[in-house]
Amino acid sequence: MSLSHGVIDDQGALAIRAVSKSYQVDGRALQVLKGIALDIAPGEFVSVVGASGCGKSTLLRLIVGLDTAYDGAILLDGRRIEGPGPDRGIVFQDHRLFPWLTVADNISLGLEAANVPIPEQQRRVAENIALVGLDGFENAYPHQLSGGMAQRAAIARALVGEPEILLLDEPLGALDSLTRAYLQEELLRIWRQGGVTMIMVTHDVEEAVYLSDRVVVMEPRPGRISAVLPVDLPRPRDRAAAEFIRLKERILRALSR
Ligand SMILES: Nc1ncnc2c1ncn2[C@@H]1O[C@H](COP(=O)(O)OP(=O)(O)OP(=O)(O)O)[C@@H](O)[C@H]1O
Ligand SMILES: [Mg+2]
Repeated sequence: MSLSHGVIDDQGALAIRAVSKSYQVDGRALQVLKGIALDIAPGEFVSVVGASGCGKSTLLRLIVGLDTAYDGAILLDGRRIEGPGPDRGIVFQDHRLFPWLTVADNISLGLEAANVPIPEQQRRVAENIALVGLDGFENAYPHQLSGGMAQRAAIARALVGEPEILLLDEPLGALDSLTRAYLQEELLRIWRQGGVTMIMVTHDVEEAVYLSDRVVVMEPRPGRISAVLPVDLPRPRDRAAAEFIRLKERILRALSR
């Protein structure tokens, strides 16, 4: 939800309606998602947790529009998602930067492809490099970055198209715990500053409770939503607070059922 001209715009509402998805494996249909239904409000921060293989990444792929072969509907601001578009950005666990391009060139790649005029490209790249705290590393190559810095570059690349929704697939999963805690704060700052709707897959229940407005718990075979828990704790959150720990334990119980 961004403030422009003093009016709150409500771009970035996602409606997932009865989504089911099967893959063909060895000539047989393997159902991966079954009856997924979820409404996400503009500017909301939602985390998705669930056992390995329960379809979390598949669900993100459908929202990005990388795969349109499924039943049901996914609507962004009332319009059906037909394929990838600039209104959605995605960050994966591995940064997926091109090693032969500088940080700035990795970030501007999508803008180039969309024929955004060069001065506008430069403005947006600089803005997003500053947003993720990579000033001074514009001309560095990916191998010259730490894991945390590479993830920042990947986040900048996902944000440079000015998406309404940022999809994050275990974005901090490969980082050490200190870098991870630091980037959690950064994600919150970026979320507050840009007002983008965030949907984050994570295996870390504490991370989900720390960051999100709601935590979606999925269960496998076939992948379904088994619980949606609101996190009604004021921010900044205290990981040691009794209520925080209670909610974390509730989610862990829901996960192990
Ligand atoms: N292209 C594909 N073809 C066939 N099966 C697939 C394909 N992609 C995923 N699957 C299957 O779909 C299921 C869900 O996979 P998905 O990657 O969405 O799980 P996930 O919840 O993201 O797991 P993880 O937590 O390990 O990342 C798995 O059983 C997987 O084997
Ligand atoms: Mg996955």
